[in-house]
Amino acid sequence: MANENPIGVFDSGIGGITVFNAIRNELPRENLIYFGDSIHLPYGEKSMETIRQLSAGVTDFLLRQQCKMLVIACNTASAAALKFLREQHPQLPIIGMEPAVKPAAEQTQSGVVGVLATTATFQGELFASVVERFAKDVHVLRQPCPGLVQQIEAGKTNDPETETMLRAWVEPMLEKGIDALVLGCTHYPFIRPLLQKIVGDGVRLIDPAPAVARQTRKILEQKNILHTTTATGKLRYFTTEPVNDFAETLFVLTGEQRNVELAVWESDFFVRENL
Ligand code: DGL
Repeated sequence: MANENPIGVFDSGIGGITVFNAIRNELPRENLIYFGDSIHLPYGEKSMETIRQLSAGVTDFLLRQQCKMLVIACNTASAAALKFLREQHPQLPIIGMEPAVKPAAEQTQSGVVGVLATTATFQGELFASVVERFAKDVHVLRQPCPGLVQQIEAGKTNDPETETMLRAWVEPMLEKGIDALVLGCTHYPFIRPLLQKIVGDGVRLIDPAPAVARQTRKILEQKNILHTTTATGKLRYFTTEPVNDFAETLFVLTGEQRNVELAVWESDFFVRENL
């Protein structure tokens, strides 16, 4: 793979933009492609088999765009498909998300940490293995958040309805003494200010996106496929929902106005550019 080839970054919707933007900061010269499979959102309420199948279709799309590396910017898709995709594509460097239980366990003073994620993420082996490896001596409280991803996609990052949902999930954790709360879904950093207001200064919110961006750099260096020019990298955005909807959500959540391209699912397995 040539060094100037893009890095493909995907999620079920807009959430992976939090990771995509961390990669832009860390590696501004890289050409990047973002893929939000918004028509299938939320992944977090689907079966592992369905998420795997969708992730495989998106991966094939990104490979047809000549991606030199893949970042699964979705905890849910990583839980369901990371191992599978690595087996399917042994030559392709693939980075996945895992809930940041390790830093939470390292930093907690109270010995109690919370994790917010989708239902599917908690069902996956990846979550269990992370807890087993890094948080044996810590009490880990798991809280699925059905419906939260849709609130964020609707741009409702600071409204009373979202606040009520969050309070119902987080206040019981606060009563049990958490002092660290892991954002175990890539959509959740968009509600960070609201969440911080609810939990107060005594609870550290942990977002793994910057660490994932550093890991991306490390792998590119190891494989010797870092982009070598001094120009700023080109960015492309694909979505499977109407492009204006995605562009609007992107603007509401990040203030960025971007050209968004359509990708179309032809079957359950195959997604193509809208040429
Ligand atoms: N952003 C995804 C994650 O990190 C999940 C969103 C969804 O449920 O589709 O888990």
